[in-house]
Amino acid sequence: MARKEFQVTPYEVQGNIDYDKLVKEFGVSKLTDNLLKRLKKHTGDLHFMLKRKVFFAHRDLKWLLDEFENGNKFFLYTGCGPSGPIHLGHLQTWKFVKWLQDKFDVELWFQFTDDEKFLFKDKSYDEIQEWTKENMLDVIALGFDPKKTHFLIDTKHSGLMYPEAVKISKKITFSTVKSSFGFTNENNIGSIFYTSMQAVPAILPSVLEGKNIPCLIPLGIDQDPHFRVARDVYPKLNFYKPSILHGRFLPPLVGEGEGKASTSKGNNNIFTTDSQEEVENKIKKYAYSGGQNTIEEHREKGGRTDVDVSFQYLRMLFEPDDKKLAEIKGKYESGEMLTGELKDILIEKINTFLKEHQEKREKAKDKIDEFIYKP
Ligand code: TRP
Repeated sequence: MARKEFQVTPYEVQGNIDYDKLVKEFGVSKLTDNLLKRLKKHTGDLHFMLKRKVFFAHRDLKWLLDEFENGNKFFLYTGCGPSGPIHLGHLQTWKFVKWLQDKFDVELWFQFTDDEKFLFKDKSYDEIQEWTKENMLDVIALGFDPKKTHFLIDTKHSGLMYPEAVKISKKITFSTVKSSFGFTNENNIGSIFYTSMQAVPAILPSVLEGKNIPCLIPLGIDQDPHFRVARDVYPKLNFYKPSILHGRFLPPLVGEGEGKASTSKGNNNIFTTDSQEEVENKIKKYAYSGGQNTIEEHREKGGRTDVDVSFQYLRMLFEPDDKKLAEIKGKYESGEMLTGELKDILIEKINTFLKEHQEKREKAKDKIDEFIYKP
């Protein structure tokens, strides 16, 4: 943190993130209007997260679309590190993935990195296993098609994954991992190997089919370093480099729309298992407001939607309707709408979503087995 004011690695997201700087630093490309137009030719419409640049950058998306247009279908790959309850930031990525699966009618490989979370968090092996089951319920509840969706659990599918992981690991040095993830000599040796496990699902379908299949990985941009490292390795093993779509972070509740929602910060996030009252309390008490200090001042100057967390939650996740969002923006910025009223809109949206999600999550308990990949 000394050299710059923010930091983004898979294991540390800190400070006020400058996404333009990050794009340069990581060497990814911004999504252009042309590329979005090309995507729209296939999807019919554009997801609001694309229109609003929530998903804003990519690697090799042009190549992926070239392949697709030549009849070479891709598969989707994303994942979850099971170390605690699922928060709204996770849902942002997964809802987008669901849309992609529906629009392109493609397979999704979903990795649960129980090994990773055991290695990196101060939690027992058994506890991580519990979270793995819990987190699966949230993924299933989002309505993924079990015929086209395959769960991989690192420690359970190790027989399948390890032969590929070990080949990948042979081509990554300790010094690369150290500089990419900020590791020191104090890191445990499992954490040093881990990137090679996260690299595997991007090629596993190709291994299983015995032919190269293009892969698209939607992710929060903090996960990019794993693939930046792995993408150098895939061609050396005669696989395609996967294409990537990068998402911005849904901000935590506290703070001026900064940083990243995370599993470990209780009141700073909404979890999918929160009660209606908890949601209401958290938003009312903690969601950073871009409003003014007094009603008079607010009426006069209006609120700031760019830093208002409730507005950002609507923009990034809960209000797909562009017209409605524009109306809220107009009213809030002009001072006609107060922070309390804005928060009420969001609370209603979240609670309506969660009520249904929690019911589906209950029903998902009988469905886990259908989703777990069986060779
Ligand atoms: N490492 C990710 C996490 O901590 C989980 C993950 C595994 C992942 N494979 C992925 C995320 C692919 C995005 C894309 O949450």
